[in-house]
Amino acid sequence: MERSSLFKGPPIGLGTWQMGERASAAASEVSAILHALERGIRLIDTAEMYADGESERRVGEALAAWGKAKRDELTVVTKVLPHNASREGTVRACEDSLKRLGIDYVDVYLLHWQGSHAFEQTLEGFVALRERGLIRHWDLLPAMQEQQMPLMAYTPLGSGTLARDKRLAALASALGITAAQLALAWVIRSAHVVAIPKSSQTARIDENLAACDVVLGDEVLRQIDVLFPPPSRKVSLAMV
Ligand SMILES: NC(=O)c1ccc[n+]([C@@H]2O[C@H](COP(=O)([O-])OP(=O)(O)OC[C@H]3O[C@@H](n4cnc5c(N)ncnc54)[C@H](OP(=O)(O)O)[C@@H]3O)[C@@H](O)[C@H]2O)c1
Repeated sequence: MERSSLFKGPPIGLGTWQMGERASAAASEVSAILHALERGIRLIDTAEMYADGESERRVGEALAAWGKAKRDELTVVTKVLPHNASREGTVRACEDSLKRLGIDYVDVYLLHWQGSHAFEQTLEGFVALRERGLIRHWDLLPAMQEQQMPLMAYTPLGSGTLARDKRLAALASALGITAAQLALAWVIRSAHVVAIPKSSQTARIDENLAACDVVLGDEVLRQIDVLFPPPSRKVSLAMV
């Protein structure tokens, strides 16, 4: 399956929400990010909101250790907080994120969720940042669908609940995989979707990455639909 060059590498990236919250976990979190890069993960998702910028600092430390020469092999995603998303605020927030990340540009810059600033203002900020080469892309769902751009799926393990789900585990065990791998393989079954499970544990990063090799047959997909019935009408995306 051909995947877009917007999200580089395999269709499993690394989420970093809740990293950066404890100073005592700094070394292990930086090692986990570095481990993900060394194992071939090329998409790292962070945000100025996560631990007030400390998650971006952790990513920055791992990137520095990994080597600046390989920067272009990566897709680094970060996000502006809604209350910063005025035209000038968006530009300032991105500049601050870049400093914490220790890099010259962000590959994909996102509005974390919509707040009170007019969306046009935020987009003007994104355009100004792109003209200066500080960001490469920004996303907007309807336009993405029209142009068949890929989608980055957050919280693909339901913040861990799917990895612990007994029904999913039973289905997964019959396939010789874990519940987390089954959930991830389901999320990335389309060539247009990449998933960014967060883990600070190297064994789990490996486990999650191995989901790239799982191909799900029609019968398994049907059984998943029975366990987790798809909505019968359009519903708003849950805010996490
Ligand atoms: N609005 C947004 O833009 C938005 C919103 C939410 C999330 N995100 C992004 O998406 C990323 C992922 O979402 P998320 O962090 O909410 O949740 P998630 O990736 O669905 O689940 C993460 C949780 O699952 C555990 N886990 C990871 N791999 C596992 C495995 N193989 N087996 C069992 N447990 C496992 C992790 O614990 P350990 O670390 O201990 O392994 C963590 O507690 C975030 O980190 C963030 O980068 C973006």
